[in-house]
This record gives sequence, structure tokens and C-alpha cells, in this order.
Amino acid sequence: MSTSEKKFRLHVVVASTRPGRVGPQVANWFVDRAVADGEFEVRLVDLAEVGLPLLDEPEFAATGIYVHEHTRRWSEIVSEADAIVFVMPEYNGGFTAPLKNALDYLLYEWKDKPVGLVSYGMSSGGMRAAHMIKPVLLGLGMVPVGGVILHLRQVLNAEGELVTSAALDASADDMLGELARVTPAFAALREVRSPVAG
Ligand SMILES: Cc1cc2nc3c(=O)[nH]c(=O)nc-3n(C[C@H](O)[C@H](O)[C@H](O)COP(=O)(O)O)c2cc1C
Repeated sequence: MSTSEKKFRLHVVVASTRPGRVGPQVANWFVDRAVADGEFEVRLVDLAEVGLPLLDEPEFAATGIYVHEHTRRWSEIVSEADAIVFVMPEYNGGFTAPLKNALDYLLYEWKDKPVGLVSYGMSSGGMRAAHMIKPVLLGLGMVPVGGVILHLRQVLNAEGELVTSAALDASADDMLGELARVTPAFAALREVRSPVAG
């Protein structure tokens, strides 16, 4: 992409919300890789800051009728993204409840967007969470295009700080490259009105 062209927008979403979480450290590392890569305009979106309550909209998201300001704000944030990366821990063999809740709030805002998964966990590197979320993402019309796996026992030092390896950095860069490759095609696809979207 030449410098005169407008960059596509990549949202990196922190999918854990608990106090003391590792999520922001992992997300900041990935954001730094993405900014250095230079292909996207990158935005960090923290679900803890977005602060969605458990789904409280009376109408299905398919109607696009949102009575709450927090839903309209969330809809705007997701609508602006051309590609999304979820930075997601594994909780009890699955992905997090805040992420499922955030997905359920919306529908067409997710559709026809590529999504990368940066998963992490103590024992599994978040792989079970990453596997589990894929059918949900496909149901929303998103297309998973890659994964980065962090085994926290290998990447957190004694102070609890994230220390990545060259191999892990390369894995993040590979996923960014793949996202950059497919994102223009998805943007073009979204220009074509879907009969399903009405
Ligand atoms: C409720 C809960 C359940 C967890 N379950 C798993 C698990 O199933 N597999 C795993 O590898 N790690 C598990 N862990 C460890 C987390 O992956 C690790 O604590 C990670 O830091 C959580 O992400 P966060 O700090 O951003 O919340 C669990 C942690 C919590 C808090």
C-alpha cells in the first residue's frame, strides 16, 4: 500500500476484563507489532473500558434497533473496523464470557470481516478457546485467518512481565501479513449488498 492510500483499520480487542489481567500486556505487544508493520491504522479496544453490561437490548441485533447508548457506541466501534484481532485468554477450556457478550450485542457489524486470534493460557496457550470461538465467528459472517498462541508459562517472567521470543514475534507478523493480504477483498465484499442482510 502506498503512503498516499488510506489505510484499512485494524481493531485489536482485549477480551478479558478482570482486575490484574494479562490481556493488556499481550494486546500492547501485538499492537506494537501491528504499528511497526505499518499496513493498518491500528486501534486498541479494551472490553473493560467499553463496559458493556450483560446483553440488555430488547430487540435482536438483526433489527439494528438499539435502545441503549452503550450498544450504539459499541456498534460504531465495530463498524469502523476493517479487520479485527481478538486477544483472548482461555477460561475453563473456553473463550471468555465478556467476549461472547460483546459478540452477541451486534450482528451485521461483524459480517464479512477477517479476524485474527491471539490466544493465551497457562496450560493450553488458549488453543481450546480459539477452537471454540471459530463456529461462533463463522456464524456471524467473520472469517478467521490466523492464530498466534502464547503459553504464559513461557512468556511471562518472574515479575509477570511479557517477554516474547523472535519466533512469537514472527508468528504475530505472519498473521498481520495474512490479514493485510485479505482485508481489501473483504472490504470490497462488504460493498456488495447481501440479500441476507436485507
Ligand atoms: C476463570 C479462569 C479460568 C482459567 N482456565 C484456564 C484454562 O482452561 N486453560 C488455561 O490454559 N488457562 C486457564 N486460566 C489461566 C489463564 O489463561 C491466565 O490466568 C490468563 O492470565 C487469563 O487471562 P487474563 O489475565 O487476561 O484474564 C484460567 C484463568 C481464569 C481466571
